[in-house]
Amino acid sequence: MPLFYLKSTIEKTEGMRPYTPLELAGRNIYVREGCYTCHSQMVRPLRDELERYGPYSLAAESMYDRPFQWGSKRTGPDLARVGGKYSDEWQRDHLIDPRSVSPTSIMPGYPFLMDKTISARGIEDHLKVNVVYGVPYTEEQIAKASADLFAQAQPDSDAAYEFEERYPGVLVRDFDGDPTKVTEMDAIIAYLQMLGTLVDFDLYDEKANLR
Ligand code: HEC
Repeated sequence: MPLFYLKSTIEKTEGMRPYTPLELAGRNIYVREGCYTCHSQMVRPLRDELERYGPYSLAAESMYDRPFQWGSKRTGPDLARVGGKYSDEWQRDHLIDPRSVSPTSIMPGYPFLMDKTISARGIEDHLKVNVVYGVPYTEEQIAKASADLFAQAQPDSDAAYEFEERYPGVLVRDFDGDPTKVTEMDAIIAYLQMLGTLVDFDLYDEKANLR
């Protein structure tokens, strides 16, 4: 913990941004369902890990995480870099019934996420609390939090256009393949698909950063 109060602990990187409201909601579902009891989110700087998962995790990548999801148990694979590894359809099918895409899997299914529509209750406050901890949400992002929560999964809506201005470069799509409603499945897939994708490792220079 003390390391987190030292500026020099957090590497200089390009690309880190706060979570969108939908990603935050997905993250809350991840915590609620206890995904961290089987999955870590931290690639360690060891050769076999780098070969399997990609670049090791930086402190900077966790700087907006409250609470962090590093985990201490790997019944399943590390998820720190799972964003973009699979299609949205794969993620949906896997969460509904893991055995349908990964026959020997012992992961439980979460089919009910498809039926539960996402709730905007408390999302504005959630952003505000993050600001207290130093996450740089703007006044506008806070005021529009509930509209943005739905907009990210409704690419054809007017709100989606505004959302993209507030969160440039973020994935906007119907993550769960059901355009009639925005569900908890949309939220958790939006979260999984951005994990580990923010920092541009082509622009990250370990040595220059350490100097
Ligand atoms: C009981 C332990 C357990 C729990 C709880 C669990 N998983 Fe898994 N998970 C696994 C195992 C084992 C695998 C590897 C087999 C497979 O692909 O299903 C896996 C695989 C995955 C993968 C594919 C990773 C990759 O790189 O191939 C994702 C994504 C995933 N889980 C997400 C989740 C999410 C999200 C939750 C919570 C909603 C969750 N898991 C809960 C055990 C678990």
